[in-house]
Amino acid sequence: MKKIEAFIRHEAFEPIRAELLDKGFPSLSILEAKGSGRQKGIVERYRGSTLTVNVRPKVKLEIVIEDKDKGVVVETILKHARTGEVGDGKIFVLPVEEAIRIRTGEDGLEVLQLHGESEMPS
Ligand SMILES: Nc1ncnc2c1ncn2[C@@H]1O[C@H](COP(=O)(O)OP(=O)(O)OP(=O)(O)O)[C@@H](O)[C@H]1O
Ligand SMILES: [Mg+2]
Repeated sequence: MKKIEAFIRHEAFEPIRAELLDKGFPSLSILEAKGSGRQKGIVERYRGSTLTVNVRPKVKLEIVIEDKDKGVVVETILKHARTGEVGDGKIFVLPVEEAIRIRTGEDGLEVLQLHGESEMPS
């Protein structure tokens, strides 16, 4: 299993979420992040304005997937998160040792599989 951690612009999240859902990846987490990249947060130009700040807000998207799905998930994030301007963000891919569904105690790849439509969403 892999964990994708992507720092993206807020406006990129909804199209990424929609396409991941469409492609069979409904399960993910987002966190509000603040950080800086190689511009050190000092000056960043975006849509015509110049901002001088130490850290900028980003969405951190976290999604744990099977190894074989890394390509499609990374491509989906790149497709919607890239504007070509500095500050588009970054994607990290981490190994995941174990996953356990709390309700059932299942572990391994079963935890990442989709459930039947009859089950309640969470
Ligand atoms: N090495 C890193 N470790 C942890 N978080 C990072 C790292 N690099 C970037 N981030 C996070 O990603 C956000 C966006 O980074 P950013 O897109 O500015 O990267 P960059 O390397 O400066 O690329 P660019 O030149 O395109 O701006 C940062 O604000 C920070 O939250
Ligand atoms: Mg940057």
